[in-house]
Amino acid sequence: MIPLATMKMDPLSIWYRLCYTLWSPFYDLLVLWFAGWRRRSINLAELQPGERVLIVGAGTGLDLKFIAPGVHITAIDVTPAMLWRLRRRAHRLGREVDARVMDGQALDFPNGSFDVVVLHLILAVIPDPVRCAREVARVLRPGGRAVVMDKFLADDRPVPLILRLVNPVLKSLGTNVNRQLGPILEGSGLRIVRQDSAGPGGFLKIILLRKE
Ligand SMILES: C[S@@+](CC[C@H](N)C(=O)[O-])C[C@H]1O[C@@H](n2cnc3c(N)ncnc32)[C@H](O)[C@@H]1O
Repeated sequence: MIPLATMKMDPLSIWYRLCYTLWSPFYDLLVLWFAGWRRRSINLAELQPGERVLIVGAGTGLDLKFIAPGVHITAIDVTPAMLWRLRRRAHRLGREVDARVMDGQALDFPNGSFDVVVLHLILAVIPDPVRCAREVARVLRPGGRAVVMDKFLADDRPVPLILRLVNPVLKSLGTNVNRQLGPILEGSGLRIVRQDSAGPGGFLKIILLRKE
């Protein structure tokens, strides 16, 4: 783990750290309604006892209760206040979690360190999702899986004007509504195995990826 004070971060990630520090006391309430979709997404990974899972942008640890016992969990996030809540949750659930402050665009793990990566509500947040996807592919073992739950636009349609207009405001609050998964994955070595839509109007995508 890189010590907080010496961690190099882009200005937007520093801003997001501040935003999510402010969001952290209310965060669980804001995303309460995603619980069923989290479970669905994690089930897609078919985690086996003994496997090593990495949660990128793990937030307050709302995914932890859906991960089967016997799986080794590592969780990273750029916001210490979110990880503080994650550690408390892990303690309550009796789960051992290696939780570290880290940038999801520059993962401090050797190649092939994990069997599964969880990417819930992070690819639409993180400043450079292309870099993040490449890092995820790098730290996955060959044949490893990643599960994604996030809001993406269709790859084959232009971003609607209204979303282009509101995105700068939402981006300043900590998320984006103009992202498409295809360009994010291009050249990453991660292949879509399954993709489902969920939520009102199918705004949410639940995706299983495999490292080639
Ligand atoms: C919308 S929350 C999602 C949290 C969690 N994955 C969930 O499903 O509830 C986005 C998280 O991404 C984190 N984040 C933002 N930029 C990041 C970065 N560059 N690297 C790692 N985490 C980041 C934020 O601190 C925040 O906890």
